[in-house]
Amino acid sequence: MYDFKIEAADKPTLYRDLAQALEALIGDETDAIANMANASGLIYETLPDVNWVGFYRNVGDELVLGPFQGRPACIRMTFDQGVCGAAARTRQVQRVEDVHAFAGHIACDSASNSEIVFPLIRDGEVLGVLDIDSPSHARFDEEDEAGLRPIAEFLARVL
Ligand code: SME
Repeated sequence: MYDFKIEAADKPTLYRDLAQALEALIGDETDAIANMANASGLIYETLPDVNWVGFYRNVGDELVLGPFQGRPACIRMTFDQGVCGAAARTRQVQRVEDVHAFAGHIACDSASNSEIVFPLIRDGEVLGVLDIDSPSHARFDEEDEAGLRPIAEFLARVL
């Protein structure tokens, strides 16, 4: 059983502890599905106020749903669709304070109001994206982005 209890007083500490727990959890495992599954579970259990954490994989220049925690979600998106598509197309983190104001946002769970999406890039190739949604508006600030960025970079190396 893996029982990671992460309680931190501030966001930098929270994300440092989360990164350490994730590295321990993945260890030398190389199976991408297992690692995405455990990563989504750990992030979902650790971060307060999130309702969806998961992966879309780049399969033939289409984003296809991967392991996640949360409500069942849309299965396929092109790089022209949604916040995830924007992250994959631009290769830039998409931090969206109000998803309803984002042109082309795909609503999978009507409870989601903000989200942050990281492109996962290895050797110049977009492997997919890490998508984290929240029911709160503007849930993700610069500290969340800074804390999650190395976690996304680590995931891109091990997936
Ligand atoms: N909201 C996303 C779609 C995926 S779900 O949130 C799980 C988007 O527009 O990219």
